[in-house]
Amino acid sequence: MKALVLSGGSGTRLRPFSHSMPKQLFPVAGRPVLVHALEAIREAGVTEVGIIVSGTGVAVRAAIGDGSQFGMSVTYLPQEEPRGLAHCVMIAREFLADDDFVMYLGDNIFDGGITETVETFRARRPAAQLVVTKVENPSQYGIAELDAEGRVTRLVEKPDDPRSDLAVTGVYCFTPDIHEAVLKISPSRRNEWEITDAIQWLVAQELPVQAQLFSGYWADTGTLADLLECNRVLLGGITPAVDGTVDGHSRISGPVIVEAGAIIERSTITGPSIIGAGSTIVNSHVGPFTSLGRECRLTEAGIEHSIVLDRASVDSVRSLQGSIIGKSGDVRRMRDGSASHRLLVGDHSRIEVPA
Ligand code: TTP
Repeated sequence: MKALVLSGGSGTRLRPFSHSMPKQLFPVAGRPVLVHALEAIREAGVTEVGIIVSGTGVAVRAAIGDGSQFGMSVTYLPQEEPRGLAHCVMIAREFLADDDFVMYLGDNIFDGGITETVETFRARRPAAQLVVTKVENPSQYGIAELDAEGRVTRLVEKPDDPRSDLAVTGVYCFTPDIHEAVLKISPSRRNEWEITDAIQWLVAQELPVQAQLFSGYWADTGTLADLLECNRVLLGGITPAVDGTVDGHSRISGPVIVEAGAIIERSTITGPSIIGAGSTIVNSHVGPFTSLGRECRLTEAGIEHSIVLDRASVDSVRSLQGSIIGKSGDVRRMRDGSASHRLLVGDHSRIEVPA
């Protein structure tokens, strides 16, 4: 069995970060979303992986390499434009050959992994197996309707009048039947080759399409709010480890990871939180639910429920929460006594200030 991981797409909802990095490399609980995905795939026993990449593929290649660091072998499959999930299957045809495969949307996270799903598929080998999860607001998702045996009878995108509360998540298992299906469909109204249309074609041919219920935490990290929420949940499962230096005037409470080379002085770190390698925290309060990347610098800072990327700094600003600070971002209090805000805001950024 192989894996096809989708790491292309445009990531418009994750601007400004997706201007400079593929959204799948955004760190959640200290590791890129894509790395969480690859680990779940390897845990499920699949080590031959094709990754669909777009214009930002250079960064994905730099982060993942040949896959050996994750115990897998990775082949990169360039997609010139994001033309849909079924289009990804088409361009992966040669790589996939006639093997069964698991298709994993590279911005999805399944806390607890996908091993059970892959094992169920291996045992039964339906033409397609979707992973579904119960949602409270089905009108906002692609929804699967099932019969009494758990066979999928219909897939409906964002139904006004939903007949099921089972949302289709970002993991699918397929036999090679899907290759015929993707050739039988036409582009949708939004001009994409939709995987749901290909699966619907399998259903119409009366080929078995099954749904597997996932009851753990699932995140489609499509928006910045999703990323913060996912960070919060995954931080809840970290194993504390202090490899950096914490001085006698600092206090660490709850599960906290302080990576090697990090220095904590006269500060409070409340878990769950991660302080990335080489970061320096002085006279500050960090956490809970906060992850800092590598070589960040916080001085007289206060930050909670937030994600700070590599080499960012916060100086004398104590009220940050629900914030995301990009690579080498610089947040500071002005020293000239001015009461106004002076902002240098990148394209498609968002700043929210107190009323
Ligand atoms: P989407 O979330 O639909 O991706 P997007 O990048 O178009 O996002 P936005 O709506 O914010 O612009 O796609 C799900 C995953 O599949 C994501 O990891 C990107 C990937 N993908 C591809 O690799 N190729 C494609 O043609 C599409 C549509 C998505």
